[in-house]
Amino acid sequence: MCHTRVMIEPDTPRFADVALREGSLVLRPPVVADVPAIVRSCRDALTQRWLPLSDPYDESHAREFVTLGAETTWRSGDGVVRAIEHDGAFAGMIDLKKTSWRGRTTEIGYWVAPEHRGRGLAARAARLLGDWALRDQGMERVEIRAATGNLGSQRAALAAGYREEGVLRSAGFVHGGRVDLVVFGKVRADL
Ligand SMILES: CC(C)(COP(=O)(O)OP(=O)(O)OC[C@H]1O[C@@H](n2cnc3c(N)ncnc32)[C@H](O)[C@@H]1OP(=O)(O)O)[C@@H](O)C(=O)NCCC(=O)NCCS
Repeated sequence: MCHTRVMIEPDTPRFADVALREGSLVLRPPVVADVPAIVRSCRDALTQRWLPLSDPYDESHAREFVTLGAETTWRSGDGVVRAIEHDGAFAGMIDLKKTSWRGRTTEIGYWVAPEHRGRGLAARAARLLGDWALRDQGMERVEIRAATGNLGSQRAALAAGYREEGVLRSAGFVHGGRVDLVVFGKVRADL
């Protein structure tokens, strides 16, 4: 028998592995039943434009993300991955990543399924997850980084209460090449 094991120190700091709720919105662990919707969303042209996902993106990528990637992110202490559910329907993905437990900083990433865009879900999810990290999980600073051309992501960060702080030159990459990233931040004192 072959088991995939992620070897981790037992005292690794981690985010609480919980579901977060705010009205019709739930942030919960991704599950295998989400795979078809993840595949559709990650094949979408806007998602592929702004996120350097596998291209072509197929079912095996989504399945590995749900069964191994999300778990590894959590177990390693690097962050936590949550599916965005709205009115009971899968609507996207949001995560905390690049967490420094010593520095008490973390970064949010997100995408919303095409049919759920334009309803404020990215903004609500980023507010819910980031405020939880600051209020309940000991973080002092949460960042969102968006390419200078990604106006939707920038508007969502602002709508979630993050402050625009500056531009990092050539700090990111997408399929189209290097991009400058606008940094948005929320600190505990902003709550
Ligand atoms: C960026 C993305 C997550 C936004 O999701 P969303 O749920 O549609 O965003 P929201 O509805 O919360 O929008 C928040 C604000 O942004 C605006 N907005 C959303 N998409 C926009 C777009 N493409 N262009 C301009 N403004 C946009 C909304 O009108 C809203 O503005 P308001 O606060 O003035 O009302 C979504 O378009 C997406 O998944 N894009 C592809 C992946 C991606 O870019 N991820 C982020 C990488 S940094």
